[in-house]
Amino acid sequence: MTADPVRWLWTGVAVGLWLLVVAAVAWSGARARRAAASRAGALDSSGSDAATVAFASQTGLAEELAWMTARSLSDAGTSVRVMPLGDLDAAALKAAGRLLVVASTTGEGDAPDGVSRFVRQTMGAPVDLSGLGYGLLALGDHTYNDFCGFGRALDGWLQRSGAEPLFDRVEVDNGDAGAIRDWQHQLGLLTGSTIQPDWTPPAFDRWTLVERRHLNPGSPGGEAWLLAFAPDGHAPDWVAGDIAEIGLPARADGTDPGSREYSVASLPGDGRAEFIVRRLTRPDGSPGLASGWLTHHLAIGDAIDMRIRPNRSFHGPAPETPLILIGNGTGLAGLRAHWKARAGRPHGGVWLMFGERTRAHDAFLDDELQAALRTRDLTRLDRVFSRDAADGRYVQRLIAQHADELVSWVDRGAVILVCGSLEGMSRGVHAALESALGAERLPVLTETGRYRRDVY
Ligand SMILES: Cc1cc2nc3c(=O)[nH]c(=O)nc-3n(C[C@H](O)[C@H](O)[C@H](O)COP(=O)(O)O)c2cc1C
Repeated sequence: MTADPVRWLWTGVAVGLWLLVVAAVAWSGARARRAAASRAGALDSSGSDAATVAFASQTGLAEELAWMTARSLSDAGTSVRVMPLGDLDAAALKAAGRLLVVASTTGEGDAPDGVSRFVRQTMGAPVDLSGLGYGLLALGDHTYNDFCGFGRALDGWLQRSGAEPLFDRVEVDNGDAGAIRDWQHQLGLLTGSTIQPDWTPPAFDRWTLVERRHLNPGSPGGEAWLLAFAPDGHAPDWVAGDIAEIGLPARADGTDPGSREYSVASLPGDGRAEFIVRRLTRPDGSPGLASGWLTHHLAIGDAIDMRIRPNRSFHGPAPETPLILIGNGTGLAGLRAHWKARAGRPHGGVWLMFGERTRAHDAFLDDELQAALRTRDLTRLDRVFSRDAADGRYVQRLIAQHADELVSWVDRGAVILVCGSLEGMSRGVHAALESALGAERLPVLTETGRYRRDVY
């Protein structure tokens, strides 16, 4: 995925944070294990110093912040458990007594996929949550029309249900560090702790550009480039679906231009982090700040700042599970790591459906795809090219065309991963999946993690 504008300046909470999280869990020891065992049950220690931290997250940031919140509470002596909000129902919420929620917004003011059932089944009408005190950290980005749409909706529903805000909702615009400090301050007031732990993410690593290849010369669309970076030191670990945050070079006036996020198209075993980047063109013809720099100005041998962070909601299932990968354009990057992850080992099948503009110029990575078909790393490939006279269709048409096979893959337990543009593709794909599988079935797949999206 490419989030433009950047979703959060310091979202690069990669392996380092994961270790921190693991440390936090280990540290809170038996308490955390007991809590994990009683997923939706009441708190083990129901004293006033107990709390539930819940998260609703699409691309992982709310989840990371939930774990950091839990660690702050736990450091201050509060007994705490961390749960996906979607795993709680009204009774569990009421029993929680004290709730800290970190909730992001996705799509156009939508709730993250993992809470779709919660929204449908629990938030449909007010319930009795009297006695529940809560704090809410809402993540969003003001460049979207419905800023913090889900966080605000959740807040409204909690209040209508009789829950008491412990403090005003804290809204985070694009990872604003000040708002996050405010949240930390509120946590401090709750626990009486004056220590504000450092939530600064791990530093960027240095990576060197070692290859850049134009994937679609002659295309009627924007230039797409494959970029490969080698780590300057020890390579961090990551898995298919994870996201890299690339720091942009400082502006001439010394101000920090921030960073951009991209799906990693390779795996640590490749020895390099690869990306597919589209060179964007502004209405006045000038190139996009980040994409122009990456695809043209940066030279082979130049070093950049990068950190890779987990994107748990786009991780893949076990290899024996059939996998249906659907995407368009640069979305191929986020899908590629998934078939690579299965390469050379027995697996339950990988079916790629991909859409671009012209077969002659936009058959991205065609040699590689053909080779993957020969080695059975890919079991099936269907492509569609929207600008070709004989074709003229988008990737969602492939779903309609192959609906019967798609249903039989899903009947065999397949997981569907979708990566690419929000506007141009994911809505159409969603509608096509709904009609192929039935409107009842798709929400169930979403809730059970069998339909995952990384769209931008
Ligand atoms: C595809 C997409 C759609 C988004 N839609 C909205 C939106 O409608 N309103 C908003 O305030 N923020 C929106 N955001 C910004 C996210 O809420 C923000 O990046 C948040 O930090 C993501 O947290 P998460 O990683 O836990 O999902 C969107 C982000 C993406 C990538």
